[in-house]
This record gives sequence, structure tokens and C-alpha cells, in this order.
Amino acid sequence: MRVTDLIEKKKANKELTKEEIHWFIKNYTLENIPDYQMSAFLMAVYFNGLSKNELTELTHAMRSSGDTLDLSEIKGIKVDKHSSGGVGDKVTLILIGIIGALDVPFAKMSGRGLGYTGGTIDKLESIPGFRSDLSTREFIDSVNSINVAIAAQTTELAPADKKLYALRDVTATVDEISLIASSIMSKKLASGCDGIVLDVTVGSGAFMKDVESARKLAQKMVEIGKNSDKETVAVLTNMDEPLGYGIGNSIEIAEAVRTLKGYGMPDVLEVVYTLGAYMLLIAKKANNIGEARVLMETAISNGSAYNKFLEFVQNQGGDISYVKNYDALINASIIREVNAEESGYIHRIDARTVGEAVMALGGGRENLDDEIDASVGVVLNKKIGDQVKRGQILAYIYGNDENKVDTAYEMIVSAYEINEERIERPKMILDIIQ
Ligand code: URA
Repeated sequence: MRVTDLIEKKKANKELTKEEIHWFIKNYTLENIPDYQMSAFLMAVYFNGLSKNELTELTHAMRSSGDTLDLSEIKGIKVDKHSSGGVGDKVTLILIGIIGALDVPFAKMSGRGLGYTGGTIDKLESIPGFRSDLSTREFIDSVNSINVAIAAQTTELAPADKKLYALRDVTATVDEISLIASSIMSKKLASGCDGIVLDVTVGSGAFMKDVESARKLAQKMVEIGKNSDKETVAVLTNMDEPLGYGIGNSIEIAEAVRTLKGYGMPDVLEVVYTLGAYMLLIAKKANNIGEARVLMETAISNGSAYNKFLEFVQNQGGDISYVKNYDALINASIIREVNAEESGYIHRIDARTVGEAVMALGGGRENLDDEIDASVGVVLNKKIGDQVKRGQILAYIYGNDENKVDTAYEMIVSAYEINEERIERPKMILDIIQ
């Protein structure tokens, strides 16, 4: 096979064979094919897209480019959950307690936050002592004994995707939907689950800014899942305003614990219960959405979801006194109020700007090896649809540096849009693709 022939074929919008795609990805991973040839191929894909077969084969080639996790020793149906990223997204933390309490194995590889979106591992590591560097043995044993384990991705899962993603980033080919779908799904398929529930976030704080493109991405990921014999459901969720009221690593742990104790915000609960219901359906723990919802509500009201979260934190070395008394986690030295400059109804809280304000406070990272300050963040006191009077508190900023708090203050003021007209709370679940 010759690389130029394959580039030529894609340029002419002809379908590549399974063998051609696997050969191309394998040799690119082995560095036998240079970046400039892969760049030309990516641009041809950008303009011509991928057929259904090409999409599946590209994903499989990337999945098989490195280690794959074998979770067959874990008893039961293992359902993974993945979010395409957001601001204030503490859904995984809450599902750990709920799904684990309902006796469904939840074995999840998670990432760190990058840019204005947060990462589950960073949030959990704000609990003193919490370890996410589990070996595969510890990971499997934990799920078999207490149903849940979360580990930072240490093994080389889908290295072809890592190389391709970096190349896409510098060749303006990141935003091609087939390439995004195969990138996300190659990592999910390499991490050994039986079924997948995808939270495809939509809005200013998400990768996908509009419902139409989010739906196309979801359809492609569901199609890849099905062609890989994994039951896959994608839920499109609203990420125009931050989810819940807390944004920032330890602040989000506190909100997750409050939710598990029965004090969850309606927007958070709606997303948690919808994603959780599909996880329970795939795991065959419930026969329909209504039954799944009752199981989850009961796990919160009878305390079993909260107790499972405590057990999980303890099992991974975390000091549970910080979960029991989560106020101790929120120890920023400065708390500044942001007051409304006018009266009316909250029409918009730009999620991206709020995420960037938390970054400006030191709570996020530009590069994966940057240090973060887990104690800083923002707590929203008013959400879209709420009425506010001039001078009332819109939000609180938690920081450790006056200059950074000043910067964040301006950003939070600009994130809020207040208008005289009354407005309904936004819909959280925008579509379900299965
Ligand atoms: N997240 C991924 O993992 N890959 C993409 O291409 C985009 C978002």
C-alpha cells in the first residue's frame, strides 16, 4: 500500500477499505507515516467526511493502537458514562453513589480538566488523601468488592487518537464531527465496558454549540457503539448556563455530596436521573425509565447513595471527614459577593465565561501539567429564570489572590444577562439518541 494512493482515494471521495484504514493508522502510530501526509488525509476527511464503515473502522483502528482494558473479571454488566465536557458538571460524582448503591458495577477511567471545563479526577483529588492512580488490579478488585472505582487514565489507551488529536489541533481539523466521534469512542471502546451512556453537552460551555451539530455527533457515536456490539445511548443536555450552583473542584464535591444527601438542584437532578436511568436500563436493573427513576430517588432518600460515596472515597484513600463535613473543603481565603446592577429576570449566565473565571482564579489549567488550586471557584446564587432585585447577590467568588478575584469579578458580571421580561427555566434534556 502507498500512503499517497490512500490520500488520493479519500480526496476523490471514494471509500477506503477496512485493511487500508487499519494499515494507515497502524503505520502512523509506529511513526512510519509522517504528520504531513496524515495532515493531508485529515483535510480530505474534513471536506469529504467518512462513510459508516470508514467511521467504524477508523475508531476500531484507533482503539487497537495501544492497550485495551480487560474488565471481564468484573461481575455484571459494566456501563460507562462519558460527558463531552462542561462547566459545573458534577454528574459522575453523584452517579458513583447512586449507581454503586444499586449494585451496578461502575468502573470508570476519567480525565483531568483542561481549559475552562473541569475534570472528575481533579475534583476527587481535592479530598485529602484521595488516590486516582489505581493499578488495573486495584481497579478491578475495588469494583468487585464495592461496585465502584474511578482511575486516572494511566495505561496507553488509544495512542493513535492522542497523536491524531494533537495533529488535528494544529491543522484546523478538530471540528469535523466524524473525527470527534471516532476520537471519543476509540477511548471508550478501549476501556473495556459493556455499554455506554454519553452525555453530549450543548451550549456556550460545551464543545458543541448548537443542538443540530450535537445531534449529528451523538448519532455517529451511537452508530459506532452499535457497530462495536456495545449498547450505546446519547443524551443531549443543556450546557448554556453552568450545571447546578457550584463551579470549582472542591466546591463541586460539596454540591455532589449535598445532592446525595437529598438537597440537589433541579437541573442537576434532571441530568443525573436521565443519564442514570439509561445506565440502569443497559445494566438490566430496571425495565423502564419510570422504574429506574424510583430506584434512584430511593437510593438518595434512604441514604444508600451517600453511604456508597463515603465507601468509595474511603476505598481510594480519601479522608471521609471532608465528605461528612464538606464545608472544611471550601477553604479559600477570600469570598467576594457579586451583586446585581439592575433588577429583572436572569436571562443568561454564559457557562464558558464562568468556566474561564474559575480558570482565572487558578482553578483550571492551560496545559495538562499545570498545578491547580482546588479551593477556588464560583457559587451561583441566581440561575436563569430567577428574579433578582438591584443589589441582591448573583454569585460568590472564592479565591486566594485579590487581583485574580478582581479579574473573575468582572467576568462573572459580564456572564450574567438581566432583562425585564419573565423567562422560564431552560429545558435540560434536549434529545435522546439510541
Ligand atoms: N474530545 C475528544 O476526546 N476528542 C475530540 O476530538 C473532541 C473532544
